[in-house]
Amino acid sequence: MPVAAIIPAAGLGVRMGPGAPKAMRELAGEPLLAHAVRSLVSTHEVDQLVVVVAADRVDDVRRLLEDGGVLAATGGRVDPSSHASQLRVVAGGSSRRESVAAGLRAVDPDTDVVLVHDAARPLVPAEVVARVVAAVRAGAPAVVPVLAVTDTIKRVRGDEVVETVDRSALRAAQTPQGFSRTALQRAHAETTSVATDDAGMVEELGLTVRVVDGHAEAFKITHAFDLAVAESVLRGRG
Ligand code: CTP
Ligand code: MG
Repeated sequence: MPVAAIIPAAGLGVRMGPGAPKAMRELAGEPLLAHAVRSLVSTHEVDQLVVVVAADRVDDVRRLLEDGGVLAATGGRVDPSSHASQLRVVAGGSSRRESVAAGLRAVDPDTDVVLVHDAARPLVPAEVVARVVAAVRAGAPAVVPVLAVTDTIKRVRGDEVVETVDRSALRAAQTPQGFSRTALQRAHAETTSVATDDAGMVEELGLTVRVVDGHAEAFKITHAFDLAVAESVLRGRG
């Protein structure tokens, strides 16, 4: 069952403040994108890697991935020098959904399992990737790694609390999210919402979306503060 991974990395990173696009910001001397790719492929489950970046960065990112030793972490499964289609770097769009759609068009047609993983989650542990892939292989059309919500959640209107939401049934969604290729393609063809995750579109189709345990270290880098946390997690790993 061949596995393809799409890494959307074409966002601007507006919430990080001025500077390079978020996926290109450095963490321990390497762009977030390089960390995210290495984390994702270190399970040796990925057969094809599709990285989606801004149009003017396609050539630079291809060089980064080919020369940077990042693909060594695939254990030889992704080797663009022997199979050109195993690494594709394509131009994204103005929304995350459009970027993922561009990535999906570059996925090999014989692929069964498609992972979609944010470049902004550079430290996802291999065990999370393995759980997601296993659940799709077991037959789930869509799989999301989740964490319980620890904060008390309030619904507000303006500056007034409307209610305190029962958090026991709430989960925070992470990536990589995993899909049967057919379910993800149908979701892109048959839904129109600008969901902030891919599983949301499969939900809209009415298909079952399964959850597996996520991990605190799969957190998303959104603000400058999160980069400092990531540096500290990496130091802790030694
Ligand atoms: N992404 C993308 N194409 C877009 C928008 C987002 O490929 N048009 C990617 C980002 O690069 C990121 C992931 O989707 O890896 C999650 O998006 P987010 O965390 O919102 O990143 P940005 O959109 O870059 O950040 P911001 O919303 O602060 O501008
Ligand atoms: Mg965004």
